Amino acid sequence: MERALYGPGGFFVREAPGAHFRTSVHASGLFARAVAELLARVDTALGHPAELAFTDLGAGRGELVTGVLAALPPAVRRRVRAYAVERAARPDGLGPDIEWCARPPAGATGLLFANEWLDNVPLDVVEADAAGVVRRVLVAPDGREELAGPVDGADAAWLRRWWWPLPPGARAEIGRTRDAAWEAAAGSLRRGVAVAVDYGHTRAGRPPYGTLTGYREGRQVPPVPDGRGDLTAHVALDACAAGGGELRTQRAALRALGVTGTRPPLALATADPAAYVRALAAAGEAAELTDPGGLGAFTWLLRPVGVPCPLP
Ligand SMILES: C[S@@+](CC[C@H](N)C(=O)[O-])C[C@H]1O[C@@H](n2cnc3c(N)ncnc32)[C@H](O)[C@@H]1O
Repeated sequence: MERALYGPGGFFVREAPGAHFRTSVHASGLFARAVAELLARVDTALGHPAELAFTDLGAGRGELVTGVLAALPPAVRRRVRAYAVERAARPDGLGPDIEWCARPPAGATGLLFANEWLDNVPLDVVEADAAGVVRRVLVAPDGREELAGPVDGADAAWLRRWWWPLPPGARAEIGRTRDAAWEAAAGSLRRGVAVAVDYGHTRAGRPPYGTLTGYREGRQVPPVPDGRGDLTAHVALDACAAGGGELRTQRAALRALGVTGTRPPLALATADPAAYVRALAAAGEAAELTDPGGLGAFTWLLRPVGVPCPLP
């Protein structure tokens, strides 16, 4: 997974995520505006520091950070230092005031936001064999699978704590790499709030056969590590939250940030038809971002560092 996604010529090194699948960032500019509102709230909680960091972690081609900067009120915007953290190269045409980096800045004060990043942090898949012994699943670039030796040590301990029991035939995905990646990211903040947004699950409802899958050119494809497509697995966000933080659905989080999806009053259609059409389009986009059967079911993990949680 590591090599196929991030090795030389790997999928994310080569391809723009937006060319292959649609995240909330691509679905609507309302998402960046909501994140800008969150950044403004974090700014207030921090007491309006002279330098306010906004870090877009797993920035793709910098679409979110660009949208957030454009949506900020000038009084906040002029104090913001913007970072895009990516494993791919800096794209042409990105705003010159956005710093492109390999890891989050250490000791920053502000908001770190990681949209659909953790699901692409590589992990191992395991399966319980007929006798109930949990074994790592090995997969060749052509998709052939075999079970390897039993899982032990810290991986086995993680499974017993977070993804248990595993009856014969069940599969699980060891989230230890995501827990560590998240701790490192959130730990980079001196003060502020770290947010990870992803499709997740909690102990109460782990998927019995795991979630690893592939995407290529807008279509779901078998998760073959050949470098030609995305490889993604939902995130055990309750495990990431064990070190602190709160979980919200995207629907609840966006509503708290003012994305309501309320349709404009019909009277506006005659009073100002153009404004009506714009408001109707925005309502449609808000509905997509908050749809409980779609993007609205994503989970936001918020970790405040030295400030109160900025969402009710
Ligand atoms: C699914 S895309 C999401 C892009 C963007 N955040 C969005 O929501 O549209 C995941 C991105 O995370 C990047 N990524 C994965 N691991 C990373 C890491 N350790 N550091 C920086 N970027 C990473 C990938 O290269 C990829 O561009």
